Order: sequence, then C-alpha cells, then structure tokens
Amino acid sequence: MSEIQKLDRRHVWHPFTQHATERDPVVVTRAKGASLFDENGNELLDMISSWWTCIHGHAHPELVEALHSQAETLEHVMFAGFTHPPAANLSHALSQRLPGDLNRVFFSDNGSSAVEVALKIAYQYHRNKGDNVRTSFIAFDGGYHGDTLGAMSLGRGSSFFTLYEGLMCDVHTIPYAPIWDGSNDIDQRETEALAAFANTLDAQGANAAALIIEPMMQGASGFRFSRAAFVKKLSEMAREAGLLVVYDEVATGFGRTGALFACEKIGFVPDIICLSKGLTAGMLPMAVTVARDQVFEIFLSQSFDTALAHGHTFTANPLACAVALKSLELFEGENTLEKIAHIETRHREQVTALLDHPRAERPRTLGPVLAFELTGSEGHYKTDDGERLRDWYLNNGLNIRPLGPTVYLMPPYCITDDELTRAYAGMFEGLNTL
Ligand SMILES: Cc1ncc(COP(=O)(O)O)c(C=O)c1O
Repeated sequence: MSEIQKLDRRHVWHPFTQHATERDPVVVTRAKGASLFDENGNELLDMISSWWTCIHGHAHPELVEALHSQAETLEHVMFAGFTHPPAANLSHALSQRLPGDLNRVFFSDNGSSAVEVALKIAYQYHRNKGDNVRTSFIAFDGGYHGDTLGAMSLGRGSSFFTLYEGLMCDVHTIPYAPIWDGSNDIDQRETEALAAFANTLDAQGANAAALIIEPMMQGASGFRFSRAAFVKKLSEMAREAGLLVVYDEVATGFGRTGALFACEKIGFVPDIICLSKGLTAGMLPMAVTVARDQVFEIFLSQSFDTALAHGHTFTANPLACAVALKSLELFEGENTLEKIAHIETRHREQVTALLDHPRAERPRTLGPVLAFELTGSEGHYKTDDGERLRDWYLNNGLNIRPLGPTVYLMPPYCITDDELTRAYAGMFEGLNTL
C-alpha cells in the first residue's frame, strides 16, 4: 500500500463506498486527454469521463488557459449585489444555445443542487400565482436526480434511497419505457406508460407542481434510453395539465445524447432545465438551473416574499464560469458534435458483437454512450459480476465501472480511434473472463 493510500485509508470517507469491504482506491496523480495515470505511471483509459464530466478530455490546454487567466484576474466575488463578466457572458452563451426562451440562469455547485433549485422554483411558481395546492411532483420510476433530500425524493423509484423514505417530500412515480436493440414491444410499452401517466394526471395532476425527468437517458439507474417522441408526448400532457416541465439534463447535457441538449432532439422547450457535469468539462464543480422567461417573471413583484430565497456561497464562481464559457466555445471550435457522431458510429459497430455475446444483453447506443446488461447478473448498484469486471478492467488499463449489472462506455469526446479500438478489445476480453 502506498503512503497516499495509507493516509486515505486512515482519514478519507469516500462517496458511495462501503469502507469495510472496498479495495483501496487507485491513486491518480495526473491526467491528459482520455487517460488517467496512477502514481506508478500506469495508464487507465477513462472510458466513463470521470463520472461523465470530462467531455473534451483531461487538462485540455484551452480550458487550462481559461482557468489560469481568470484566476489572475478575479477568482471569486459574492453573487448577491455583484456580477462579473464570466457569469454574464456564460449566461448569455447558454441562453443562445438553449432552445426557446430558456433565458434565465440560476447558478449553484452540483447536479443535486441544480435539481433542488428546480424543485423550489416550481413549488414557488405556483405559490406566487396564488395556487397553494400544487405541492407534489411527478417523476419516472428508476430515475436518479442526486443525493440531497428533494433530489432523493424524486429518485424514490430507483430503490437507491429506501432507507431515507421518512425524509422525503411528496413524489408520485410513473412508468418508464426503455428501449434497446432488439426490443420489439416498445410501441406497446410506451402506450402503457402514457396511459399510466394519464391516470396519474387524473388522480394527482391538480396537486402536482411539476413533472421532473431525465430526458431520453436515465443515467445512474442503468443507462436506460427512451425515444424522443415518448418524452415529448409526456411533456405535452404535463404542460396541458398545468404542471411545469423540468428536464434534468445534468447527465444528458453537453452532447451526451448526440445533440448539445436532449431537449433539442425531443423538440420540446421545458420550463426549467438543470445542467452540471459537462458544464465545466470536468474542471470545476458548478451547475445551473435555467428557467424560461415566463417562469422568472412570476417571481417579480414589489415584495421580497415572491423572490427566490436560495443561494450558495460559491454561486457563479468566476473560475468555473470562465472554464464553462471556454468549453462551450470548444464545441464550435473543435467540431465536437461531429466527434460525438463518430464515436456513436464506432459504438454501433460493437452492438452486433454484443447481441451475439452470451454474457451481454440489451445492447444500446445513444450519442457517445454504449451500454448493455450482464446476462444473469441481478442486483442494483453493486453486483458480483460488475465488481469483478471493474477490477479486471482496472488491472488492464481501463476505467470502466459497471453500475450494478449495467456496463457502459461514455468516453471523453477527444478519444482517438486507436484508443476506442483498445477500449472495445479490453471490454470484450473482460467480458470473456466472466
Ligand atoms: C440526471 C442526474 N441528475 C442529478 C445528478 C446529481 O448530480 P451531482 O452528483 O453533481 O450532485 C446526477 C448525478 O449523477 C444525474 O445523473
């Protein structure tokens, strides 16, 4: 065990970790492009972009330069009563790229907080309009929106959080309709899910403040993809019933469905959108909750009572804003959407082999994401097969970290063809060891 591992073992409490049984963590000392390097110089291809954040690759020189020059200029200033160029410019740039009138940007520090802010905006939106009845929320079965109390409540249908039921707010869950290669009953499952949603709206719609969903891709609950038209229909039904529609694009934003935002593919402008992860390309923690103009306007009056009473110390940190702005520019400067399309093509070439593999089922791709289930592997966040595979991959130069029975690849967009070839070969070799 290295000195760092000893210190870590003695003092650090890691996320989502049972310290009594977990292997010692890999000590990463540097990263470049699509690769992480451990303290002994071993390379690990980062096939899950460090929890899906690092979209352009590690230590991208233009992001490093944006961070450096902003640090020399203004590292931080409180954000009530003050603003600064990186925040105003980033808000403008995001509004320009988001569809419709999603023009009002509220800053926070992580995906869960972005979701909490969305919940509070939706709840207060109806209060400000004089409606005190709409106090609950509707979310998908199996959804994951983060680990804070409101976000956990939305994820109550994922079984991640059963222990905390007593702390949760009022959320009704509705069926999801996942799609994969070879699924032939998707039309019927979508029809059933929409009928169930219609029933929920009949029973609970008048009491619900908002529908909150991960559009087109449920991430943490196993990379379950859905069709755009299905999400659009649900969104229209919710709006028709007087609910605000919130898209949690913390995972899907910044190219992860193939478009810059999933809502573009769906062709629907949500009332509120939550973004984080890829927002700063993995360099700093930041999130935004973006609202349509007409939502923001409901918070305007001569009284503080209708204002959104929410804020964090590091709201709109200038360093994070400067990096996020540069990251958006890279999408155009480096033709990032074309790179994503190329990764999708390469991923699709693996699906046939996966369909034939005895230990893989339900292979699927969406933009730069490739996912499948391990046949015969039951369980949730941790499964024996998943753990064995994770360790095999780590020992063989790959950061691929199955989520329970789901194996997925979500590489940085800078990944080269050779690196992809290496990753696929390793992925199958690992599968063959099971
Ligand atoms: C869709 C979605 N929403 C919210 C979150 C929570 O984000 P964070 O971990 O930054 O709090 C996640 C994290 O995986 C997510 O995938």
